[in-house]
Amino acid sequence: MKEVVVLAYSGGLDTSVAIKWIQEKYGFDVVTLTLDLGQGSDLRLIEEKALKLGALRHYSIDAKEEFASEYIARAIKANALYEGKYPLSTALSRPLISKKLVEVAWREGAVGVAHGSTGKGNDQVRFEVTVRALDPSLKIIAPIREWGLSREEELEYAKRHGIPLSEELGKTFSVDKNLWGRSVEGGPLEDPGAEPPEAAFEWTRGPEKAPDSPAHLEIGFEGGLPVSLNGERRGLVGLISELNALAGSHGVGRIDHLEDRLVGIKSRELYECPAAVAILEAHSDLEKAVLTRHELEFKQLVDSAWSRLVYYGLWVDPLREDLEGFIERTQERVSGIVRMRLYKGNASVVGRSSPFSLYDLSLATYGLETRFDQRLSEGFVEIWGLPSKVANAIRRRAEKIGA
Ligand code: ARG
Repeated sequence: MKEVVVLAYSGGLDTSVAIKWIQEKYGFDVVTLTLDLGQGSDLRLIEEKALKLGALRHYSIDAKEEFASEYIARAIKANALYEGKYPLSTALSRPLISKKLVEVAWREGAVGVAHGSTGKGNDQVRFEVTVRALDPSLKIIAPIREWGLSREEELEYAKRHGIPLSEELGKTFSVDKNLWGRSVEGGPLEDPGAEPPEAAFEWTRGPEKAPDSPAHLEIGFEGGLPVSLNGERRGLVGLISELNALAGSHGVGRIDHLEDRLVGIKSRELYECPAAVAILEAHSDLEKAVLTRHELEFKQLVDSAWSRLVYYGLWVDPLREDLEGFIERTQERVSGIVRMRLYKGNASVVGRSSPFSLYDLSLATYGLETRFDQRLSEGFVEIWGLPSKVANAIRRRAEKIGA
């Protein structure tokens, strides 16, 4: 009996060719695994294709709930945006796919796992770091990184091995999709100076095609997570799917990012993340109401460290949970309602309220009924500015002596 490796299979050209390639070049039997992460593909068709191409067995796993509750939820609490822009949609999915690869490998008694990433990106790092941390005894095979085939040679190889090409030939872009967003690379996008063509977008309308009247929306939060839309309680998966459709129809969620990959390459990335953009905007706004300015300042450092760690493929590093210890504690008070307006590409917060809000009208008001004693400000301002006043005086004196 041949040894087995488990391949993360998307149903696309690269991983289809990989099934044959692993059998031919390495002499392994291939078991394929496809997760439903909300990418909207038909998992039955993918399974059929894998088996037709000679996979020994195929696993289809609906992992949407786990993806939302264990990965996206943490990203929401951390306001996760890599380099201030990218909601980490692809990055979050890789450690989960890796975990499932390892679990299936154990079940199958496999000697290794395989993935379809190239040697130029972040995904190889995310897969391999996670797999090594979970089971260092597993071999890792990265056929696309190893085979060195050009696109033409790959198509030729596919043709020779009876891999259906009909869907592939018209494809301009390299796309990855899940519940948290859609990433688009390649083709005309490789010129960072050129505006992305409309054909690159699938989940969002251009602002000129978006409705002329705005939509208003209330997102309810509890413990840092969105739990309702317009007063109706929703699970995280349903809430995100619904928001992707609604916010996307108003043109919300288009992100054009010149991104620094871990491997040192700058790359032009295009994203469509309607739900992520709206939810992160609402969540960080609500935090501003309930956390002190000192907490907010420090949390920004923690949030950006969390985002970088996850982008760089280090989901399994203990630092993530250390940071989450702080984040979790702050989220206890992040409950309330955020009102948003979706209009021609923007998701703007137009109101927020919370039982934990630190906003105090009797302090803030310019009206007469205020508890803020303005007389105290005189001495405060004097002392606040003291170090700067002294420094300026000394500088003036030194300039005089020097002259
Ligand atoms: N640049 C993004 C990231 O590193 C998206 C990668 C998209 N991956 C893909 N196979 N198309 O997370």
